[in-house]
Amino acid sequence: MTNVSARYRALLAAGELRPDADQRKAVIALDRLATELRAQADGGLLSRLFGRRVPQPRGIYLWGGVGRGKSMLMDLAFESVAVERKRRVHFNEFMLEVHERLRVERLKEEGDPIPPVAKAIAAEARFLAFDEMVINNSADAMILSRLFTQLLAEGVTVVTTSNRPPRDLYLDGLNRELFLPFIFLIERELEVIPLNGPTDYRLERLGGYPTWYVPNGPEATAALAAAFFRLTDYPPEDRAHVPSCDLQLGGGRDLHVPKCLKGVAVFSFKRLCGEARGAPDYLAVARRFHTVVIVGIPKMGPENRNEAARFVTLIDSLYEHKVKLLAAADAEPEHLYQAGDGAFEFERTASRLIEMQSEEYLARGHGSE
Ligand SMILES: Nc1ncnc2c1ncn2[C@@H]1O[C@H](COP(=O)(O)OP(=O)(O)OP(=O)(O)O)[C@@H](O)[C@H]1O
Ligand SMILES: [Mg+2]
Repeated sequence: MTNVSARYRALLAAGELRPDADQRKAVIALDRLATELRAQADGGLLSRLFGRRVPQPRGIYLWGGVGRGKSMLMDLAFESVAVERKRRVHFNEFMLEVHERLRVERLKEEGDPIPPVAKAIAAEARFLAFDEMVINNSADAMILSRLFTQLLAEGVTVVTTSNRPPRDLYLDGLNRELFLPFIFLIERELEVIPLNGPTDYRLERLGGYPTWYVPNGPEATAALAAAFFRLTDYPPEDRAHVPSCDLQLGGGRDLHVPKCLKGVAVFSFKRLCGEARGAPDYLAVARRFHTVVIVGIPKMGPENRNEAARFVTLIDSLYEHKVKLLAAADAEPEHLYQAGDGAFEFERTASRLIEMQSEEYLARGHGSE
């Protein structure tokens, strides 16, 4: 396993990345972290042998505008750190899981549920990498300070990305004063690094290319595949091995995502809107992915009113979370569904779909704020 800066330099040398001053500083910090984590792993052995204590590595909070390379650098660091028990998880997904664990723990009626939950999480991972930390509900806000205090006390090292500096988390949220200790905790315990250079690299990769392809067919598929490879840096020659994943929807249900990489998901229209699905499913998709590719959107008529209604709900969720949409369809948005139940309401969806193709929309950050 090589260190973070060596990997970063290799990507620069290969022309995959362009030099970026903020990124260079972040790489130095991530390298420091990777080195300390390794020392801790080695030192754990030393301290068992000689009773010497190795200080806990200081975690990192990377924040900045969209497309600045936060997730990319975090992934690079994640792959580089020589820690066996490590976990990378989307922050929203992690919090859903925390609430579920707390619920189970409360049933035991053994007092404060947070310490045992933190202990269990720490037992699974010494190194936690969170992507897209955003706090927009009071249930999360109220427990975060105590949860993270416990996690750090259990020896967990945290790296996280966010579109906001710590002081702007949960801004204007309900009972924000109860949340402030979490901000102080982050500012005290983590190294806070802005990654806020002038270039939105994602927009650069999306920009100039259409995002809505008509009609469905090999040409559209090829264009969308190229966009997927561009966005994820995945080698096109390895197309047969693009990873898939299962998105947890709650209630024990899963949604299979046939292509799932670096916050980008590919779905067929059939899978998303051809089956009985509803707002919570679409919300899970919108929260989890910053970019969604949908292929096979048909032209719909009165007999497709269910599909059309689901599609409306889906697009509302994506739009509200500022998810970037790339699509292949048999018609332009305004001609997708012109007659049938809800065709009038569909006009708003068509208008949103058009807005979602604009440079301005594409330049917005992912998230519900
Ligand atoms: N220095 C760079 N040169 C060229 N491309 C880059 C550079 N840094 C990042 N990228 C690319 O830009 C895209 C966006 O990067 P990334 O997903 O890491 O952004 P982000 O900061 O996490 O954005 P968001 O806040 O929306 O999650 C990725 O495809 C990434 O590989
Ligand atoms: Mg990101």
